[in-house]
Amino acid sequence: MGLSQDNVFRKLFRIANYGLEFILVRLYNKSFQSSKDISAKFHWLYYYSPARTWSNTRWMGYRTMKCPLDLWVYQEILYEIKPDIVIETGTNEGGGAYYLASVLDVIGKGQVIGVDIEKVENRPTHERVTYLQGSSTSNDIVHNISEMIEPGQVVLVILDSDHNMPHVLKEMKIYSQFVTTGSYMIVEDSNINGHPIMPNWGYGPFEAIHEFLRQNDSFRIDKDREKFYLSFNPDGYLKKIS
Ligand SMILES: C[S@@+](CC[C@H](N)C(=O)[O-])C[C@H]1O[C@@H](n2cnc3c(N)ncnc32)[C@H](O)[C@@H]1O
Repeated sequence: MGLSQDNVFRKLFRIANYGLEFILVRLYNKSFQSSKDISAKFHWLYYYSPARTWSNTRWMGYRTMKCPLDLWVYQEILYEIKPDIVIETGTNEGGGAYYLASVLDVIGKGQVIGVDIEKVENRPTHERVTYLQGSSTSNDIVHNISEMIEPGQVVLVILDSDHNMPHVLKEMKIYSQFVTTGSYMIVEDSNINGHPIMPNWGYGPFEAIHEFLRQNDSFRIDKDREKFYLSFNPDGYLKKIS
């Protein structure tokens, strides 16, 4: 018995459907693979428009050269960790430190220590923020900070000073000792030297992170903190695991 006209149409429709689905799945996979390129392109666009983006980002009127998507992640980490002490090296105009202090205000605990080699005028004053002047790796600064931390306190570290590899690596070795297990050492601006911006920078934070991890197994990279696709700190969210 031959196929009815109805059945022929149904078979043809099913074949066409399979074909269309096959094409759509391939297109979807292709665009999924290139999502990395899309975020790199957006990263370039964002980074190379500083006058409207990172150089023009303020918290309560004070400039911070951080990406708002990272600042949101910092808020999430602060809420989870509830640190007693947050250390930010390279505090510059203090907008970042002020932001951290404001989040700590809402949480109801914690102090920020901002370190910078330069004396910057007109920084925000806040009862939770203490500014220290000097190199983040100098014995005096490291000694002062260690005096400010009481035994048992939860410590979070954000490194944002000199972005050359030897300095960052030295900072990481020193400041990793202050970080408490379960907390984070965040290494900022690891996006430079081609990760993906400023390809000609030379070895910087990204390379320091990977050298540090080769020598130290107490930390692991928490890629989940880069969930918003754009982060100035690729591979820079380091969780202390032991
Ligand atoms: C990229 S800016 C920091 C931006 C700031 N954290 C913010 O959120 O806006 C880098 C800062 O690091 C400081 N710096 C450079 N070398 C340093 C060092 N050895 N120790 C401490 N601070 C340093 C600079 O003076 C500058 O203010």
